Amino acid sequence: MTLPQPQPVKPKLILEALAGKVLPRPPVWLMRQAGRYLPEYREIRATSESFIHFCFTPALASRATLQPIERFGFDAAILFSDILVIPEAFGQNVSFEQGEGPRLQPIEDAAGLARLHDQIDMKLLEPVFETIERVKGALPSSVALIGFCGAPWTVASYMIAGKGTPDQAPARLFAYRHPELLEKLIAKLVTASIDYLVRQIVAGVEVVQIFDSWAGVLPGPAFRKWSLEPILQIARGVKAKCPEARIIAFPRGVSTHLTEFLDCNEIDALGLNTSDNTRWVAQRVQSRKTVQGNLDPLVLLAGGNSLETEVRRIISEFSGGPHIFNLGHGILPATPIEHVEKMLRVIRS
Ligand code: CP3
Repeated sequence: MTLPQPQPVKPKLILEALAGKVLPRPPVWLMRQAGRYLPEYREIRATSESFIHFCFTPALASRATLQPIERFGFDAAILFSDILVIPEAFGQNVSFEQGEGPRLQPIEDAAGLARLHDQIDMKLLEPVFETIERVKGALPSSVALIGFCGAPWTVASYMIAGKGTPDQAPARLFAYRHPELLEKLIAKLVTASIDYLVRQIVAGVEVVQIFDSWAGVLPGPAFRKWSLEPILQIARGVKAKCPEARIIAFPRGVSTHLTEFLDCNEIDALGLNTSDNTRWVAQRVQSRKTVQGNLDPLVLLAGGNSLETEVRRIISEFSGGPHIFNLGHGILPATPIEHVEKMLRVIRS
């Protein structure tokens, strides 16, 4: 009797890049790679009464996670959910108005803070972990699964303003007026984020990304206190429990403050914003950590020669060190599918 030959296991390129390896071509995934630019997403999204309900329905959230992998063959899948499930699990009712973004009851004072539960309701988040288990069972062995949370400053900024704003001014004012309250809120979010990410890893994600989309609006000392320190605490807390997990921090728009993350061994990679200077990053950051990014979402929307030129430039400028190709921020809903295909052809050629 001849036994079936074991298939060679394809390495997960993202994990190799996160281990510091320089690869012949960068592995690639896109922030917001599941979402409204995909007709198949819009189709299943229409079956759900609300976005939060969609996120908490494992059959739908797992489908949405897998859709971009099936269509494009990205090197990683990112869990389909949202950073605002954490305020929801603290008891702050979150809703998404069509075309208007998130709505929460704003936290304006000590009484607003006191309305939150002491801890997140992990039971409410169970569907997220079930989504991870379902995706794990369906994902090709060469594709890594990425989990995520929002960084405390970014999540707090929505909890305080109660909505998205152009510059998170309500949270910045709150930080100057009520630093002792913000400290309490951030501490709660640090503990919750560690527990939440550890549960995601136990359920099957191999990499977690901490999204600090609003880190770049803070001046130096405030950046260190509200963005950098909480992210470092989360990274250390997660690695203490799950040393094998990989961590990507995305402190969007912090420019040269990126170097302040370099001494933290618990962070494996830094996500770059579109505006980050690739040459400076290649010299000062990539020599010590894997970097991820940073194609302009608008050039992906525009397509044409500009797209090809920019993809080649980014690959070339980061070719001397470990690099994961991505956008500098989430993909825009109006992005044509053919432009994503073209981007992948250039990366893989
Ligand atoms: O990357 C992925 O594909 C995974 C899913 C994911 C979503 N949101 C799905 C989503 C991830 C990782 C996020 C993160 C997120 N959510 C961030 C950090 C990254 C960033 O973009 O800065 C932030 C700030 C949020 C909060 C949030 N969620 C906002 C401000 C909005 C409204 C704006 C918008 O794009 O509509 C959302 C809604 C949201 N999250 C949608 C999706 C697909 C659109 C809602 C829908 O499909 O009906």
